[in-house]
Amino acid sequence: MHCCHPERSEAQSKEPVALPKRSITGSLGSARDDGAFRRALAKWFRKNQRDLPWRRTDDPYAILVSEVMLQQTTVAAVVPYYNGWLRRFPTLRSLARAPESDVLHAWEGLGYYSRARNLHRCARVSVARFQGKLPASTSELRSLPGLGRYTANALTVFAFDQSLPLVEANTARVLARLFDVRDSIDSTAGREKLWNASARLVPASGGREFHSAMMDLGALVCTARQPQCGTCPIKTFCAAPDPTSLPVKRNRRKLIYLVESHAWILSRDRILLEQCCTRWRGMWMLPRARARLTNPIYTARFPFTHHQITLRMFLDKTRRPKPNERWFPLHQLKVVPIPSPHRRAIEALVPRSN
Ligand code: ADE
Repeated sequence: MHCCHPERSEAQSKEPVALPKRSITGSLGSARDDGAFRRALAKWFRKNQRDLPWRRTDDPYAILVSEVMLQQTTVAAVVPYYNGWLRRFPTLRSLARAPESDVLHAWEGLGYYSRARNLHRCARVSVARFQGKLPASTSELRSLPGLGRYTANALTVFAFDQSLPLVEANTARVLARLFDVRDSIDSTAGREKLWNASARLVPASGGREFHSAMMDLGALVCTARQPQCGTCPIKTFCAAPDPTSLPVKRNRRKLIYLVESHAWILSRDRILLEQCCTRWRGMWMLPRARARLTNPIYTARFPFTHHQITLRMFLDKTRRPKPNERWFPLHQLKVVPIPSPHRRAIEALVPRSN
């Protein structure tokens, strides 16, 4: 469910976006062609656009929530979380007031929890420094925790309909093909070519519709595996001789295999949990087991960034709670933030052990 993260290597680069360069190759050679391209794209978009919940609002806070959730997560996975989040934290102030455990609980299952922590910090900073509103300038937005060029521009485009460039996973693919960009899209050179291409194509007004159209084209037509070039509304502008070979990505990091062992300790209707301190900081997981336990009562696999983790649970009747561990009544677990792989283990084991 995770896809590429536009911000990871951009958060540090705070220089203004470079002006469009004319050196990009492709058949979009003149201002007239750029105009024809935009008209063809807009015509297609009016008939084919996706109905997405964050397109029905211009509340900058709701749009920020959607953009942060959409980093590394697909639209289909985000929609229910986005709706649930706004019911639970309808305003920036309500999010700022919430304890971190509630914020992590609402994010549970989406992964990459630093996004939730940063969103929470953004809300608190906005209340302290910007009268409880998100600032409207991209430079002030970029001073907020976790907001880099992509998120600051996305907020300005989608909430304020400004015409700024925008490159995320879908638009990167469309632009790389359109301009036949063969540099790796996660290299500095490749990334800057795409941002320059986007800056050149975005119309002087109507940035919101333009970028929504580019994203929908990437999601529905100019797809990663089987692009529908035959029905593509902008195929006459596309410079890629072989669209499926683009975009070029650097070799992915090698998968690392880990085994993690945890203790299953129930006493009457209570379960012992350990407060996580690294990967799932602030959440509660099954306590880490000591080495050399045999006969796991539960085994499961889950991915975590570039790791493949095998989770094993062992019965441990002798263990005593440590200072970072606590007993929780089973009926209270639904309000406790628990990492999904551990929640699934508990759900699988509780009926059997009762
Ligand atoms: N991916 C990132 N931002 C998006 C948006 N606003 N709509 C659809 N997909 C997106």
